[in-house]
Amino acid sequence: MAFPDAWMNELLRRNDIASVISDYVQLTPRGGRLWGHCPFHTDKTPSFSVSPDKQLFHCFSCKAGGSVIQFIMQAENLTYREAVQNLAQRAGMDLPEETDDRRLLEQKHLRERICNANREAALYYHELLLSPAGEHAREYLARRGVNAATAVRFGLGYSSDNRDGLFGHLSEKGFSREDLIAAGLVVPGRKNPDDTFDFFRGRLMFPVISATGRVLGFGGRTMGSDEPKYINTGDTPVYNKRENIYAINMIKGKKLDDVIMVEGYMDVISLHQRGIGNAVASLGTALTSQQARLLKRYASRVYYAYDGDEAGQKAMLRGIDILRAAEIEPRVIVIPGGKDPDEYVKEFGPDSFLLLKDASITGTRFKLERIAKLHGTDTADGRESFAREACALLSSLEPVERDRYIPFVAERSGLSRDTVREQCGVSEPQESANNRRIYRQNKAVQRQNDSERARCERVLLACMMSSAEAALEIEKRSDFSYMLFSDAGLRLFCIRLVAAYKQHGKADIPLLIASTEEEYADGISTAYSAVGSYEPPFDCGLDAIERIRALDKEGALREASGVEASQAEDDAGRIDRLQRYLNEKRG
Ligand code: UTP
Ligand code: MN
Repeated sequence: MAFPDAWMNELLRRNDIASVISDYVQLTPRGGRLWGHCPFHTDKTPSFSVSPDKQLFHCFSCKAGGSVIQFIMQAENLTYREAVQNLAQRAGMDLPEETDDRRLLEQKHLRERICNANREAALYYHELLLSPAGEHAREYLARRGVNAATAVRFGLGYSSDNRDGLFGHLSEKGFSREDLIAAGLVVPGRKNPDDTFDFFRGRLMFPVISATGRVLGFGGRTMGSDEPKYINTGDTPVYNKRENIYAINMIKGKKLDDVIMVEGYMDVISLHQRGIGNAVASLGTALTSQQARLLKRYASRVYYAYDGDEAGQKAMLRGIDILRAAEIEPRVIVIPGGKDPDEYVKEFGPDSFLLLKDASITGTRFKLERIAKLHGTDTADGRESFAREACALLSSLEPVERDRYIPFVAERSGLSRDTVREQCGVSEPQESANNRRIYRQNKAVQRQNDSERARCERVLLACMMSSAEAALEIEKRSDFSYMLFSDAGLRLFCIRLVAAYKQHGKADIPLLIASTEEEYADGISTAYSAVGSYEPPFDCGLDAIERIRALDKEGALREASGVEASQAEDDAGRIDRLQRYLNEKRG
């Protein structure tokens, strides 16, 4: 999402879809919608509809659809950004960075005050670490192998046990209590809201610094064994852990081929101290598309080195898709022995870690290994499920890339390479970022190629759109996989949707659709128009999953029984000949 949500909402509010589209298509109301002739194909009956409630358009014939932004993209043949600019101009809005709107200016000033307070806080914590009060924290760092130079380079600090030491210090410097609360540095008392407490107390402090050198927020690690291990600055006007990357300030200005993405503060620091200066951390478990876009400015390849636990593995799976969508090449460093990068590099040294990096595997290979592990390839059933899911994955790749993995899938599944290749062709054709142009040309053809599987995918997404509860239940199930969506657009959208549910308990779906930069909006908006048609959503979602799995199985069986089928044809031929022979005899 390149534009701020609040601004985007304003843009959408000021560009009512019905009034924008009315400039292009004559619309007539019928049954709660507006109808007209679709501008994107020759449309004899009016099959183009606009839904003012949902602020979406949808053509029932060619299946084009989306928000007002996608409409302008297609009608004016513009990129996403250009379409947004076009609509902003139409509504008399300035683009976010150029605006001088008073409210936005005030927000800008608040952000500046918060960053200043954060910088002062970082200095305060840092000095405390170097002071006699910080002795315990310095010992902790030494125990963990962090040397003084590194502590200074990363601006590490210590927050004392004192209940309001920072508050007192920053008040003296002239910062208002209100701003310090907005910065997440202090919190009002729970019992007495007039009391003020420092948010971080008795912790080792890690400032999170932007590429431009602004202190955005902090992570604070306990030096004991109490929980939670880390507390972090929550969402503030300058900080959102989904948007920022730890240590981005350390790689800025370096000429990098690639970046190493790790999970934690300590992993970054430990690698940097040992000369591996291109390590950064995502600060949550899963990488977000905003973070991927930020990374894209610095490197075109990202090596994942997450922890070997289930959470880390899952996060990498998601991250791989997100990186690919941002046109970054994902690779995975597999660390043996379930160690994290900090533990590994401390024990075996940086050279050994760099050897692991040399031995890294591609994102696709990582996914295939994971699918193999999930299904187990020791049994025939396992191999069959593996083959099915692996081929669904391969079918979403470009042919050149796909060919690289066919031998691997064939070997693990025990199928012939030809069978694997054919199975890969069975699933829906996919559009990746790289062949988007071809996709655009073939769009009309693809729209008509609407298979049952594609319909089921949309039903599944519709069910997940209609209820956060149902979606989260579905996502937890073992028969659910994002790979059920062979359509990369639906898959990515579903990932974002579930992420929004997990983070906020709900999702602003029209906004999510409007922020779909990829030309993926058609299927998504078709699914969205079906929200409410499948009740109850949980059960209907499960039905869709079951149907998709059955269809894949049929596909796999059809492939596997290719031999039997030709046998059956032979039989049919023989019977036919016999019949003719008997007839002749009779005649
Ligand atoms: P880890 O639990 O892997 O910690 O969490 P770590 O980075 O290896 O830390 P050490 O080595 O035990 O000191 C990885 C990252 O997840 C976030 C932090 O950003 C952490 O660095 N995290 C973890 C939290 O925000 N809160 C927590 O309670 C735990
Ligand atoms: Mn660790």
